[in-house]
Amino acid sequence: MSATVTDRRVRNGRTGRHRAGTAAARIAITLVATLLMVACVGVSPEVTIDDPVLVEGRDIYSRNCASCHGASGNGGVGRALSGGAVVENYPDIADQIDLVASGKGTMPAYVDRLSGAEIEAVVRYTREVL
Ligand code: HEC
Repeated sequence: MSATVTDRRVRNGRTGRHRAGTAAARIAITLVATLLMVACVGVSPEVTIDDPVLVEGRDIYSRNCASCHGASGNGGVGRALSGGAVVENYPDIADQIDLVASGKGTMPAYVDRLSGAEIEAVVRYTREVL
């Protein structure tokens, strides 16, 4: 009789440890999922943009430019565009629009790929958001 009680306690003890292990695994999975979400946010910077032109610019940027200039404009194959770099290099927005339209070196020309309004939208995005 008392042997059965002891057995049960042992079994309960094991179950308890097993549950604790599952909880730790759940926390680990939650942490990994959170990190992945943060990493994904890094792919397309989630800034609240009110201007629909800048929202369009962000879409155009992630489809056409991010592969070379980095998801957040921090550079890669192409140079960094973020942190006000483009405003410094192109005080006149028209010069930056010309560069994106005509290309330069390995930077492709976008005049045939994007409309004038799309080029302006993506240029504004690099100047005002990145
Ligand atoms: C295939 C890679 C590639 C893609 C795609 C690309 N670029 Fe570039 N970009 C470059 C390279 C390389 C340079 C440097 C060109 C040079 O100075 O010779 C550059 C330069 C620039 C510059 C000038 C930066 C400065 O400070 O002088 C701007 C602005 C720019 N790119 C914007 C864009 C935009 C906007 C897009 C998308 C519509 C885009 N680029 C797509 C490779 C790329």
